[in-house]
Amino acid sequence: YTYTNGLVNLEEGHISREIFVNEAIYQQEQEQVFTRAWLFVGHESQIPQPGDYFNSCMGEESVILCRDRAGEIHVFLNSCRHRGMKVCRYDAGNTPVFTCPYHGWSFATDGKLVGVPFFKEAYHEQLDKSQWGLIEVAQLYNYKGMIWATWDPTAPPFPEYLGEFSLFLDLCIDAWDGREGCTKVLGGVQKWLIPCNWKFPAENFSGDSYHNISHRSVDMVGIGPGGTGRRDRRELNMSRRLHVSFPERGHQTGVYVLPKDELPPASYQESSIVAEYFRHCEAERHRRKKEWGRLIGSPGEIFPSTALLPRQPRSIAVWHPRGPHQTEVWRWYLVDQDAPQEVQDYLRAYYMRYSGPGGMTEQDDMENWNYAHAASRGTIARRYPYNYAQGLGYEVRDFSYQGLPIPGVVTDLTESKSSEDNLRNFYRRWAAFMDAKSWDELTTWRQGAQSDKGS
Ligand code: FES
Ligand code: FE
Repeated sequence: YTYTNGLVNLEEGHISREIFVNEAIYQQEQEQVFTRAWLFVGHESQIPQPGDYFNSCMGEESVILCRDRAGEIHVFLNSCRHRGMKVCRYDAGNTPVFTCPYHGWSFATDGKLVGVPFFKEAYHEQLDKSQWGLIEVAQLYNYKGMIWATWDPTAPPFPEYLGEFSLFLDLCIDAWDGREGCTKVLGGVQKWLIPCNWKFPAENFSGDSYHNISHRSVDMVGIGPGGTGRRDRRELNMSRRLHVSFPERGHQTGVYVLPKDELPPASYQESSIVAEYFRHCEAERHRRKKEWGRLIGSPGEIFPSTALLPRQPRSIAVWHPRGPHQTEVWRWYLVDQDAPQEVQDYLRAYYMRYSGPGGMTEQDDMENWNYAHAASRGTIARRYPYNYAQGLGYEVRDFSYQGLPIPGVVTDLTESKSSEDNLRNFYRRWAAFMDAKSWDELTTWRQGAQSDKGS
């Protein structure tokens, strides 16, 4: 297949349904995308002590995120070197070694093979243990507590992969008052299966600003912090609403920009402690981040499969592919490390009524992806492409709002209400990954031929 301007034709704004339902394309995607890209594995706060581990996955493969005895963080393939058994079968915990349940090889938390039953008798001491440790990712990066990894030694370092999108990732991972990092995972990780291709949720979180009708009933019920809508929108109503995308990197997000010199009105009214906390943080954030404190985060996606919800409910989602027709969603909920207990309890309740398989908003989306995917699988149905032409050609570069220059390619949604620019950006990058033979073809910014600012 040819992807760029073949199955993915963004000049016309058409994308073939094959990329969602075809088995061969799915296999190629595992090779071309999931073994090469940087993937989110977990958060440092999940493994605070030496010996702590969290069983995660990268694409289809099970991996162990753990902290060794010296305190160093690792990500290993969760597969024994002897016959492949999962060496770690618990979701999370603390252990001195991972002992394989099949024949009993054991591996230290730094990955070394340390125990082999009948090493003397059966192997005659001739097995070179140093060669048979757990397989470790090629690169790992701790970004303000978020652990990212890639299997590809030739991938650019994570900060370069992220580029100027760090500005938007920070809206999710920095404390509400603007201190760097200082976030922790609240409770456990929610995991559930949805019957659709992983790209359905990925494109939706990239910036499907068009699907408000899906959430109409939730808006009417009013589950937001102040009792209206999904989220309270008072500060959003006074802001400029934008889409921002980075064509060379495939990351994209929505964002709101407050007018110069205006603090947002408080949205949290339930208890004075909660309201006071957010009022205090809001003022601090503006003091610390100066003009960048005017940015209010909105859902976005780091290519390929990590979604961000920076504004409440503040969470990270990963879309794990489970065959072309199924996705396993994992969702981490974040809260400021030192937030008062009342704030944490309040957010826990809000996150639950909003997100996850039982959350009111998430259910609306899953219903659509489930039926859209199923209806696209038919022999006749898959002959007809989807339409991604909304707003094509209306993206602008070098956008600024009241003195604040916004990096990347921007669409001003205050005027146009909605655009599929961010979705096109996601698929542009996806097609590039599918076509590219090596990372050299994917690091176009190094060649200086184009830039995210465009020409
Ligand atoms: Fe692990 Fe045999 S599969 S010890
Ligand atoms: Fe939605």
